[in-house]
Amino acid sequence: MKNILNAPFIDEMKKTTANMYRLGWDERNGGNISYMLDEKEVAEYLDLNKVIRTIPIGFEAKSMIGKIFVVTGRGKYFKNVEFDPEKNLGIIRIAEDAITAELLWGYSDGGVFTSEFPSHLMSHMARATVDPENRVVMHTHPTHTLAMNYVHELDDKKFTHSLWEMCTECIAVFPEGVGVLPWMLCGTNEIGEATAAKMKEFRVVVWGMHGVYAAGKDMDETFGLVETVEKAAQIYMLTAHLPRINTIKDEEMMELAEYFGVNYRKDFLNL
Ligand code: 13P
Ligand code: ZN
Repeated sequence: MKNILNAPFIDEMKKTTANMYRLGWDERNGGNISYMLDEKEVAEYLDLNKVIRTIPIGFEAKSMIGKIFVVTGRGKYFKNVEFDPEKNLGIIRIAEDAITAELLWGYSDGGVFTSEFPSHLMSHMARATVDPENRVVMHTHPTHTLAMNYVHELDDKKFTHSLWEMCTECIAVFPEGVGVLPWMLCGTNEIGEATAAKMKEFRVVVWGMHGVYAAGKDMDETFGLVETVEKAAQIYMLTAHLPRINTIKDEEMMELAEYFGVNYRKDFLNL
């Protein structure tokens, strides 16, 4: 059996959480990541018959039975993941009853998965119906995107349009746009259901006055989505209070989307 601390997926979790922390997106215990793993790959590192303990999920996740995830822990700081992955991360498998998770490794101080696990798992379930390749769900508190929530209407089309205008390649990176939710109580099944409903249409969902959720087939794609949205929001916040002299026009955004050959939300442009 290989040493789990050398597993590439643990390395990715360490590097990604450290990156996000240093970008200032994940203060204290802010943010959480869940990453669906390949069973065969995990079996190289762990005895899959050895369940340390079980943890209730809080809802029924039938379509996820048997799926294995590495998930950041509840109340754990992204800052600390790289130094003690076994305490700050856990590897869990959705049990046959669909309402509990079996802990296979991690949460070594007796901890549990993130309080946002309902939103994560429901997002995985939603994305699986539109993109079977989806593996990663990421929640974070990116500073400028959050700032933009206070000065911009929280509307899918209007928010997306403002972001698309801020960087030439935005429409190519998230051609489906971003979904936006109003402020809601976090950590609940209700916000999980609302997020999952948006996740059928969008890979990025803004949680009003809280942060973002992003989904993708791997860590790079998912991180890249948040990075691009955050960069656009930063340009927005740097310019929102200044007279706008130039902008990327809707015709130009259409030209870009067609040049990149992406399937974009035409109804989010005003042509
Ligand atoms: P957790 O510490 O439970 O992951 O919560 C962090 C967070 O960002 C809540 O929205
Ligand atoms: Zn949060």
